[in-house]
Amino acid sequence: MFSKRTSLDTQAPATTDGPTAQPSTAYWRVLIVDDEPDIHTVTEMALGGVRIEGRELEFLHAHSGAEAKQVLATHPDIALVLLDVVMEDTHAGLEVARFIREDLDNTLIRIVLRTGQPGEAPEEQVFVTYDINDYKEKTELDRRRLFTTVYSAIRAYRDLMRIETSRKYLLRNRAGLERVIHASSRLFETRSITDFARGLLEQITSVLFIDSSSMIVQAQGASAVGEDQTHWQIITTTGDLHLANAQRMDEVSGYLQQACRQRRSLFLDDRFVGYFETRSGRVTLVYVEGCDRLDELSRQLLDIFSVNVTTAFENISLEKEIADTQNEIILRLGDVLETRSRETGNHVRRLAAICHLLGRKIGLSEDECDELRNASPMHDIGKIAIPDRILLKPGKLSAEEFEEMKYHAEAGYQILCNSNRPLMISAATIAHQHHERYDGTGYPQGLQGESIHLYARIVAVVDVFDALMHRRCYKAPWALEQTLDALREGRGSHFDPRLVDHFLEIVPEALAIIEQYPDSQD
Ligand code: C2E
Ligand code: SIN
Ligand code: SIN
Ligand code: FE
Ligand code: FE
Repeated sequence: MFSKRTSLDTQAPATTDGPTAQPSTAYWRVLIVDDEPDIHTVTEMALGGVRIEGRELEFLHAHSGAEAKQVLATHPDIALVLLDVVMEDTHAGLEVARFIREDLDNTLIRIVLRTGQPGEAPEEQVFVTYDINDYKEKTELDRRRLFTTVYSAIRAYRDLMRIETSRKYLLRNRAGLERVIHASSRLFETRSITDFARGLLEQITSVLFIDSSSMIVQAQGASAVGEDQTHWQIITTTGDLHLANAQRMDEVSGYLQQACRQRRSLFLDDRFVGYFETRSGRVTLVYVEGCDRLDELSRQLLDIFSVNVTTAFENISLEKEIADTQNEIILRLGDVLETRSRETGNHVRRLAAICHLLGRKIGLSEDECDELRNASPMHDIGKIAIPDRILLKPGKLSAEEFEEMKYHAEAGYQILCNSNRPLMISAATIAHQHHERYDGTGYPQGLQGESIHLYARIVAVVDVFDALMHRRCYKAPWALEQTLDALREGRGSHFDPRLVDHFLEIVPEALAIIEQYPDSQD
């Protein structure tokens, strides 16, 4: 589908770091706030040697509300505060709670209130407003009760941290994906090669979030390239390459020549050299410095982008080809994800082809079938927001982990929903609704029957068919009969009954597609 020369020199894509849920420290920080010194000693003794999720507790101490605020302001990684209510005044503790949630805007730290006297408990409203985990009278705080309280608070903190880190990860990657989509579509609107080259440079640096020196060089005829830089025509530059002084050019040439010799895009040291060759032999090189800070995902984004650019060079003024190229982008975005989840990129290709087939079978128009084929590969793009420890888990997910996994449908929708392109809107809907079930028991919205978009109902059938027929990190492939039984069993509950009936009539064609795009490990 794409020639080998455009795949970048990336290392071990599977090591892409998902969000790690754990804080960087090897212990949980617990802040004890109390004006009675004894309470500090007793608490620390009672919790001595406790490990939670393999980590010890580390204690920090404050003896007044004012001191507590200082400690909190300088230690954002505190997991839990055991907080006395009455200290320098009767509300000192509550003021600290307010400070944490409002002034520090920290919603993660868990708070357990402790008071010396029964009846000092604050009103319920305080618990809700400041998200207080628990309230204990100090007399209740024997070793066992204290342990239970601290244990559940730390667990809650850990869960909140996980959600928070996956959100951050999503936000970052979502921005990257949007930039790729946007950059690519901008490029296809330009018509002259010079405009195109300028746009390319701009877009590459924006895709990468880097503001670095870069240049575009063009060479006429592949045979002229490689040894002699005089055949290179600099089209446009940014950064200090504007100067393009002789010494700098020598340095740059070395890198350009390497890419030309290998006839493919390369990451070399902290440089990226994009190599784009058209069928007519015109070579365009893109040289970007300062790539050492790129993580694996950005490299993959750059890879996708390079593939699109090559295709765009081929077809700079052909409308139909441009449309095809955009569809290619979508497949490639699907690929990034499949790389991460260690499924082969062929899952999305099979899905696209089988969806197209089923669309035809039920009498959708040619345009609708095309749209379905082009939008369906992005159904699981939201898995990019799911941490590796869940996505790549070799065994069955716990209920808790599955809850987190479900977020991929909403996440995919969020990534795709901002475009006005019809194709992207369909892709967003499919990502959002492909795990809805016909009987209304699916996720995330619990939509029922025909209120689930037809495309999403189609993808649901084909996705499960293909998932069952192939190996996943958590399951072996199923036999055909077993797979078809599962579809029949889901008829009317999981799946649109009409679609199952139609699908069962095109199984031979679906199997031919599976043979055409095999998973490498099967
Ligand atoms: P996926 O691997 O792409 O699977 C898509 C859908 O195919 C699943 O949606 C489910 O409806 C169906 N499916 C796949 N494998 C099986 C199976 O062994 N038995 C049955 N009855 N159905 C199967 P679902 O369940 O909503 O899961 C969504 C995604 O969550 C999956 O996408 C996969 O990435 C992940 N996942 C689900 N269960 C597990 C698990 O036990 N371990 C791991 N590591 N991941 C899981
Ligand atoms: C994009 O360029 O990001 C797609 C938005 C659009 O063209 O409507
Ligand atoms: C929505 O339900 O929020 C919009 C429709 C969709 O894409 O799921
Ligand atoms: Fe999914
Ligand atoms: Fe899938």
